Amino acid sequence: MTSSPNHIYSVIWQDDRVWLIDQTRLPAEYNLVEISRCEDMAQAIRTMIVRGAPAIGVAAAYGMYLGAREIETDDPEEFVRQLEKVAQLLRQTRPTAVNLFWAIARMLKTAYESISTVEEIKATLLETAQAIQLEDLETCQAIGDNGLSVLPTQPNKLTILTHCNTGSLATAGYGTALGVIRSAWRENRLQRVYVDETRPRLQGAKLTAWECVQEGIPATLITDSMAAHCMQRNLVDAVIVGADRIAANGDTANKIGTYSLAVIARAHQIPFFVAAPFSTVDFELPDGNQIPIEERHPSEIYQIGKTTICPSGIEFYNPAFDLTPAKLITAIITEKGAIKPNELINYHTVSMYEE
Ligand code: MRU
Repeated sequence: MTSSPNHIYSVIWQDDRVWLIDQTRLPAEYNLVEISRCEDMAQAIRTMIVRGAPAIGVAAAYGMYLGAREIETDDPEEFVRQLEKVAQLLRQTRPTAVNLFWAIARMLKTAYESISTVEEIKATLLETAQAIQLEDLETCQAIGDNGLSVLPTQPNKLTILTHCNTGSLATAGYGTALGVIRSAWRENRLQRVYVDETRPRLQGAKLTAWECVQEGIPATLITDSMAAHCMQRNLVDAVIVGADRIAANGDTANKIGTYSLAVIARAHQIPFFVAAPFSTVDFELPDGNQIPIEERHPSEIYQIGKTTICPSGIEFYNPAFDLTPAKLITAIITEKGAIKPNELINYHTVSMYEE
């Protein structure tokens, strides 16, 4: 298992099993976790060993294959019945990132449409998981380059603020919002990136900061509450974030704290971009109000490391995502180009679930 600064892969298929970078241990430790069973993949997604919408999709696709290969029947109909149970286990891991459901639906569709033996269906499922992974990598590279066409032209070198982690760790590689930042850096268009720490799980401080340091991208870490101050001081030219689920009208669910960034960016007339693949768009939902927002355990708030930071008796609310209304989004940067939120609907073809 290797990972060099230019090639960070969150999900690796090798020796007939999956290896995940344990994202709960970075940046202190770089560890790979071996996953050979579907149940272990479900647990890894639930506990955020692997996280970030596209990476969760890739992990779930491999989880489907790992579950499929354990099914002991020669009857294709019985096989797909049991595969539905594998899908159900994986669907229950995390509710907000639609890439999870998209990847599971694509794997199931592959199985349903294969008119062959169970062994052949299993082989096709592995190929499909690998294709999902490769496509996501290529998609992210396209998103990165498409972002360049929509970034402000002045100043020549931009200072960009980002939130959470949207880089190689959160995708099959390269990243979405961090992919655009990578492309800007490569093209000498980046002065600096401000990285929100992203309370409570600190994906910015732990993961985005790590990726930037690995690659020599000039980055400055701030706490989430410092973003408005930085904008008021004219330190920020654009904000770019990722997405966990985008509704048909462009409303976007992303890591908690994204909505407040969009509000303050609008107050300071700073462009606010969402960068995401089409696998993150949920055309089934007309607007963002039906997007399920995950609530996680309160220990994410009341503990820092192993230290409890508040009095017992206090109550907690820990939503992991929030909803940014489409009207606050300048453009959604996708593999098909930068799209105005209200034009997203024009890209709706046939749904994964309807086909
Ligand atoms: O809870 P997480 O770490 O899975 O949340 C991740 C995010 O919110 C990312 O911004 C989003 O998935 C986009 S990743 C390219």
